[in-house]
Amino acid sequence: MDSDDRVKRILNRQVHGLAPDPFARKSLYSYSTPRDKVIIVISFICAILGGVLNPLISVIYGQTVGTLGTHHQARADCPDSDPDSGTADARRQLLRFTLYWIYLAAAIFVLIYTAAVGFYYAGERVARALRNAYHRTWAFFDAHAPGAVASRIMSDMTHVQEGITSKLAIALTALATKPEGALSPRPVHCVFLVQGGASIAQISTIAIVVVMGAFGIVRIAPAAQALVATVSSASVIFREMARRSPQDPFDPSGAVIEDFKGNIELRGVSLVYTKRPDAQVMKEVSFSCHAMKTTAIVGTSGSGKSSSVNLLERFYEPTKGKLCLDGVDIPTLNLRWLRGQIGLVRQQPILFDTTIYEKIRYGRLYCDSDQIISAAKMANAHDFIMALPDGYQTRVGENSTQISGGQKQRIAIGRALLRDPEILLLDEATSALESLASQSGQKKRTNIAVAHRLSTVRKADLICVVERGRVVEMATHEELVRGRGRYWELLEIQDLQ
Ligand SMILES: Nc1ncnc2c1ncn2[C@@H]1O[C@H](COP(=O)(O)OP(=O)(O)OP(=O)(O)O)[C@@H](O)[C@H]1O
Ligand SMILES: [Mg+2]
Repeated sequence: MDSDDRVKRILNRQVHGLAPDPFARKSLYSYSTPRDKVIIVISFICAILGGVLNPLISVIYGQTVGTLGTHHQARADCPDSDPDSGTADARRQLLRFTLYWIYLAAAIFVLIYTAAVGFYYAGERVARALRNAYHRTWAFFDAHAPGAVASRIMSDMTHVQEGITSKLAIALTALATKPEGALSPRPVHCVFLVQGGASIAQISTIAIVVVMGAFGIVRIAPAAQALVATVSSASVIFREMARRSPQDPFDPSGAVIEDFKGNIELRGVSLVYTKRPDAQVMKEVSFSCHAMKTTAIVGTSGSGKSSSVNLLERFYEPTKGKLCLDGVDIPTLNLRWLRGQIGLVRQQPILFDTTIYEKIRYGRLYCDSDQIISAAKMANAHDFIMALPDGYQTRVGENSTQISGGQKQRIAIGRALLRDPEILLLDEATSALESLASQSGQKKRTNIAVAHRLSTVRKADLICVVERGRVVEMATHEELVRGRGRYWELLEIQDLQ
């Protein structure tokens, strides 16, 4: 019972994460750098100033109309006066107002443009930091519908991004425009209008202010709606992010092995997947993989071979037992460092929609094209890549029909080898193992090869035969054949096939 509870706890924390961090960042701007904060403050001031200056346009417009009106009125009242002197005066005034108008328009343009660009720039960076910080465990992906995480990252984070970029700038400018409009002596003007005592300038000003105020309100409504969506999306994201992942690759804690050798040991390891809590996929499995040697894991489909690989990479947590690297408990190691030591070729490699060159380059951040080509050669991929019409620049996506499954895997092998890892995990990529073994000067490392086809692992230093989650035999090929046990049976079946 006690052990059942322990298993439940282990499964639960993989899906829901560790207890929420009380000091988790709960504000969007805590994901901004000091530089972003400066940009946000400048954009904020510019947006407010841009809004505040807006109603001045109506005042200048009113003054312009007023000047024209006064001029015409004077001409009508005194038709005998010198027409040129009055017209020159009116012209000067009109010129002055036109210049004010141009200056004002230029100032508003610069302010609003600066605010918009600043909010976009900072918002984009904040949203990117937020997306980067959103890590989920593999168990989380198992437990949620495939679209759930994509929707969180695409839809919710896009709401947030939209809110803190364009909508915030619009809302601030519109808000700053509105009170200015409200501050204009509108009630007094209305009285003038009703009593017929208003000047043309006042009537024009008030008309434009009313229109601007109305436009301001119309612009605030959708922006406010977007800001509400931002707050609600952000609160969901923060709630989820407060729960820490037990397998956070960016967690700086954890040990690093200084005198690294690469000896791996599984001691009585059991595994239950979160999605199937009743099925024990690995049952007290124990075996060792020695540094500089090749260990093969063989067995029928579904016997738990890939699951051992998943545990070594710490994609999942074992429900019992220990995994050690050079005698150190793997969960106590720094996860990023641990994964940095391992090159993994998964059974079904996933290729992002990009060029082959980029795809291989994912293996190592800083490398040149010679290193990429030599990794592709080691993975036996260079020749088929060169035969493609665009060579290394050919785009290969997840659903690419241009290359075969085996070729896809060889690209994945190239990517794994580019890093020149200390430990190489090949899950059903054994053709690579053969070609690697035949290469002279090939770096000695800990090789672990999962294989269905037994012919590919004959030369392995140790072969572990797994059967329904248990290791049933463990020896070299010759010893296993001599023993006439399960391995021999599997060989017979495959030979018949
Ligand atoms: N993420 C998962 N959630 C639930 N069950 C899983 C998960 N991954 C694997 N399993 C189950 O665990 C068992 C062992 O799977 P595993 O992938 O380790 O088999 P395998 O030995 O690699 O088989 P194959 O040779 O077909 O690749 C299978 O019964 C499988 O259905
Ligand atoms: Mg497998």
